Amino acid sequence: MEKVLAAIESGREGFISELKDLLRIPSVSSDPAHAGDVRVAAEWVRKHLADMGLEAEIHETPGHPLVFAQKCDAPGKPTILFYGHFDVQPVEPLDEWTSPPFEPVERDGNIVGRGTADDKGQAFTHVKAVEAWLKGAGCLPVNVKILLEGEEEIGSPNLPAWLAEHRDLAAADVVVISDTSQFGPGLPSVCTGLRGIAAFEIHVETSSTDLHSGSFGGAVPNAIDVLTRIVSGLHTPDGGVAVAGFYDDVKAPSDEEMASWKALPFSEKQFLQSAGAQTLGGEPDRHTLERIWARPTLEIVGIGGGFQGPGHKGIVPAKAWAKCSMRLVPGMVPAKVIEAVKRHIEAASPASVKVKVEGGHGTPPVSIPTDSRWVAASVAALEKGFGAKPVFIREGGSISIVTRFVEDYGMPCLLLGFGLPDDHIHGPNEKFSLSDFMAGIRTSAYLMGELGREV
Ligand code: BES
Ligand code: MN
Ligand code: MN
Repeated sequence: MEKVLAAIESGREGFISELKDLLRIPSVSSDPAHAGDVRVAAEWVRKHLADMGLEAEIHETPGHPLVFAQKCDAPGKPTILFYGHFDVQPVEPLDEWTSPPFEPVERDGNIVGRGTADDKGQAFTHVKAVEAWLKGAGCLPVNVKILLEGEEEIGSPNLPAWLAEHRDLAAADVVVISDTSQFGPGLPSVCTGLRGIAAFEIHVETSSTDLHSGSFGGAVPNAIDVLTRIVSGLHTPDGGVAVAGFYDDVKAPSDEEMASWKALPFSEKQFLQSAGAQTLGGEPDRHTLERIWARPTLEIVGIGGGFQGPGHKGIVPAKAWAKCSMRLVPGMVPAKVIEAVKRHIEAASPASVKVKVEGGHGTPPVSIPTDSRWVAASVAALEKGFGAKPVFIREGGSISIVTRFVEDYGMPCLLLGFGLPDDHIHGPNEKFSLSDFMAGIRTSAYLMGELGREV
């Protein structure tokens, strides 16, 4: 282990400069104009892993390619599958970045750029830990598989089918994922739950075309008026969701888990500051951590219709739309929730008006049991890697494929987040602490050592 740690310490500058090369590739998966860049990132990752001595291949999917690599020459030892993603979110608004998103720079102990924390930088910690074992010890203490995909930010639409087709190739005793955050600086964290997502759109049409408001106004329905009444009926006045049955399947956290969250050093003031908001919202009388980790939400994420040009226009708009997105918690089933929303909106719609609800497919929530030897090993590894006792948290975000690993294949997942809550993932000036980058590499190296020793 000493030699592995030495390889990590002496590798620092090289690791950072390699990571910068990967960060310079604008692999925005949601933008068809960047499809070529997602492929360039995949090829970069494949070559990097092959140069390290792994068997590494690009796998085509109907969408963006993924990279699968392995080095399985530790017979009798467990197999670890490291999962992460090299695709990133769009960077707009560009003028809010203090340095260009795809020109990574080091600033105040951080590396700044799109993908630093989410997820190129975090995923790279495991790659470098594998390299350090190979350089320092000459071999790996466990069997290692690495699966890095290019479609996480668009919901991993093709990964479930790929997994089903490559069951044996991807089979592992445990999946290790670093795509979440620590609770705070110096508070390494094991994440025990992620929320799911389900999205839908509401389309209202009140007439075949926009109408003159002088000739028709007052005598026909207005699409925006109909839509806003529907939308405002989605929540109760106190901030809960009004959809019948919405909370029926919610599995409440245990008293013990709630108590452990209340013991975390959480500051509402800091939380508000990090949001740039004046006041808390949502369900009253619940701890903020419970609201973001263990309560479902329904957000109106976009709304439009009618006339939006300069000046005035005397019309009764014919069409209006809203895009909504829900975060789901353990117990909830995306399709069932979408059905409940459809029924609610149908009941709230005037009979004479066309109201369509289009529900997309969702990502189910996931929870990770804490009483496994995998979690025990990760706690030990985090403590050594970060020099502090880890805490157990959940996260409000989602990683689509985790449920598939856990529920379809019975593969236990470890969500070991090395980022920080204020890393601005998806936003301008995304960053990742370089000392946490190094601590993450040490943690991953310790984890492999720990799991290799156990059996
Ligand atoms: N790394 C995030 C997930 C995440 C976000 C974990 C915040 C913890 C806190 C991931 O890359 C992501 O952005 N996921 C999307 C999933 C969606 C595209 C299906 C999300 O949560 O919106
Ligand atoms: Mn991510
Ligand atoms: Mn993301």
